Amino acid sequence: MNRDTLVAILDLARWAPSGDNTQPWRFEIVDEHLIRVHGFDTRDHVLYDFDGHPSHIAHGALLETIGIAASGFGLASQWTISSQGDERHPVYEVRLAADPAVVRDPLFDCIEARTVQRRPMKTSPLTDTQRQALIDAAGDGFGVQWFESWSERRRVARLLWDSAKLRLTCPEAYPVHKAVIEWHARYSKDRIPEQAVGVNPATARLMQWVMQSWGRVQFFNRYLLGTVAPRIELDLLPGLFCAAHLLLRPRRPPAALADWIELGMAVQRVWLTATRQGLHLQPQMTPVIFRWYARAGRHFSSDPALLEQARQLSDDFERVAGSGPQDDFGFFARVGTSPQPHSRSVRHELAALMTG
Ligand SMILES: Cc1cc2nc3c(=O)[nH]c(=O)nc-3n(C[C@H](O)[C@H](O)[C@H](O)COP(=O)(O)O)c2cc1C
Repeated sequence: MNRDTLVAILDLARWAPSGDNTQPWRFEIVDEHLIRVHGFDTRDHVLYDFDGHPSHIAHGALLETIGIAASGFGLASQWTISSQGDERHPVYEVRLAADPAVVRDPLFDCIEARTVQRRPMKTSPLTDTQRQALIDAAGDGFGVQWFESWSERRRVARLLWDSAKLRLTCPEAYPVHKAVIEWHARYSKDRIPEQAVGVNPATARLMQWVMQSWGRVQFFNRYLLGTVAPRIELDLLPGLFCAAHLLLRPRRPPAALADWIELGMAVQRVWLTATRQGLHLQPQMTPVIFRWYARAGRHFSSDPALLEQARQLSDDFERVAGSGPQDDFGFFARVGTSPQPHSRSVRHELAALMTG
């Protein structure tokens, strides 16, 4: 094993997904057996990064991807959390060792191909093989709940519609939305390119103009039904047009950082398996995140009406899922077949992600 192998592993691993393509990690090659990952989160300026958990999920997805990438070089990998209790800046140590028993993971070839599909997909149902592969990929620690029939998808689409209203009328979410889209772009290294957002070019131009100031957004929302066009394109139609929605439900409540990492590992296995099965996937995390806030009794906005809406949304979500306030929801996504997206987020160069 030499340094070049570790560089090649990290060059693949940087394709792991993260919320809004934030890539909340920096890499250090300590020696030829040890990679140190310096994680961080964005909770201080990103409303959606509730207690840093979406970033922690991304860290898990990254660690899983390092393991899969390492298998392609005949290496076994093992990670530990080496920082003590600092969940804002967790440090992970990944030890790699040559192991003749290691076989190349079949998901290896999907690492770079995996991407988000935010546009409507075909409604052809999942095959039994596809469904079972996704359940197996989630592993023993997570149950997979499916919403597949037209009426189940309609109920989820309604939930996404309501969640989007909350998202688009929340003043605290506005700076996040404004910062995350790279306008006119097909590829973006550090954000989401406009063409991968899922709206048509006319809606994109309108959104770009409106999003220049919160005053414009408010005016538009109040007098011109400003949330309707983006919600139809970004939430309602994609919610209806897919094969299924899936909800990963942890079998025990996530309590420690390591539990969120495990969830992220499962997310990445599910997503890569979807790719391997010829499917596309889109996470739809905002209803889950608003529910985390509501059920923890935590404020995300100075507007009390929005907090009430988040509580209402959580009640609706639980009705749709047939569960109660104490049940844990980990990851929510839609899957289906569709053409390869023409646009996607790319990544920072590896050199820009290296530290130390
Ligand atoms: C924890 C997490 C939450 C995410 N939430 C959403 C979401 O709510 N909606 C969405 O369209 N994409 C979501 N994504 C997808 C990211 O935006 C996407 O992975 C990132 O921009 C990189 O793009 P790529 O996956 O195409 O490489 C999420 C990803 C992660 C890891």
